[in-house]
Amino acid sequence: MIARSRPRAGLATTVGDEAARRTRELETLHRLAQRVAAEPDPRGVLEHALRTLVDMDWFDCGEALMEEEGSLVTVAVGSCSAQAVAACPLREGLGDDARAVLRSGVVTRRGRWRLVPVGPAALLALAGAADVSASFLAAVVELVHAALKRTHLHARLAEKEQQRSRLLQAVLNAQEEERGRISRDLHDQIGQSLTALLLGLDRNLDEPDTSDLAKLKEIASIALADVRRIALDLRPSVLDELGLEAALRRFARDTHERYQIEVRVLVTLPKRLGHQEETVLYRVAQEALTNVVRHARARSASVVVTASHGGVQLVVEDDGVGFDPDGLAAAEQIGLMGMRERLELLGGSLRLESAAGEGSSVYARLPSRRS
Ligand SMILES: Nc1ncnc2c1ncn2[C@@H]1O[C@H](COP(=O)(O)OP(=O)(O)OP(=O)(O)O)[C@@H](O)[C@H]1O
Ligand SMILES: [Mg+2]
Repeated sequence: MIARSRPRAGLATTVGDEAARRTRELETLHRLAQRVAAEPDPRGVLEHALRTLVDMDWFDCGEALMEEEGSLVTVAVGSCSAQAVAACPLREGLGDDARAVLRSGVVTRRGRWRLVPVGPAALLALAGAADVSASFLAAVVELVHAALKRTHLHARLAEKEQQRSRLLQAVLNAQEEERGRISRDLHDQIGQSLTALLLGLDRNLDEPDTSDLAKLKEIASIALADVRRIALDLRPSVLDELGLEAALRRFARDTHERYQIEVRVLVTLPKRLGHQEETVLYRVAQEALTNVVRHARARSASVVVTASHGGVQLVVEDDGVGFDPDGLAAAEQIGLMGMRERLELLGGSLRLESAAGEGSSVYARLPSRRS
């Protein structure tokens, strides 16, 4: 049996009755607001709403339904046990009615039930109503709706926070990796060249041998090229001295020499950008071109920087194999997320356009500088 026996509030016939009812309404709203205030889970919010309405004797019992992955499921029950709800004689056909009410967004009576939508995807089915006014019910709906919205915002915020800390971890790992790579480069390449040079010079100190010296000179120039490459990877001084266009041309030439990919660079900006903007756009272009080298199997690519809508736009395109930007798991796009994060820090954005066999385009935008 579901209905709880309790004294029924009679019709408010006197001013005293009306005042008492209003007081009980306010008390209910107050209690409900307190209960849902710190609730992080939408199911919890609906459970509190049911419990408060039943505890305060506005209804005999009820249940809360929520749309989850396309179907409407019962997420909380009022004063009856879950089994009692399943066997409830009042309940038959409730699902279909509830769906229709949810679509219409209007409180609907169905026999002893009152179906009350409390958001686009949640509904309270309340049974055995006492003297419940429409304005009171509307206030309940507003309160529950606001609490549900808050839980969704919280969930989104928590998700964003998680994403940020994953990204931070990835950035730290990448930094460590980069340090490891630089250390290996210094040790294995430049260290070895210098060791060979030292040994060779020792050999030649007593008895200079011209052909040996020529080899040593070659070793020295390879070491110098290695130093230049490492310095360029770390931070090209040309970016500070000559600006974005020169640095991009330098990187494009280097990419061509190392990987035989033709990279066209076109920069049409009326004046130099700020230090931060130049660095971000250079890093984004660098990562995008590194992706072209690593993944695209492209013959050619282009880097175009133009002034656009008061800000600046960088487009990196290639004629390679392409990919599905929406088909990547978060863990597979640390490089792309890093680009996006750098741009967003300056109020900009990143957009990818690509499909299998159709090459790829990376669009990076930065707004005009706030002064
Ligand atoms: N220009 C491109 N052509 C084809 N596939 C690409 C291109 N750019 C990115 N991708 C695909 O997108 C994925 C994600 O790129 P992202 O830069 O985030 O990671 P990654 O290059 O694999 O690793 P890293 O973290 O070292 O950059 C790549 O693994 C690749 O599958
Ligand atoms: Mg990458």
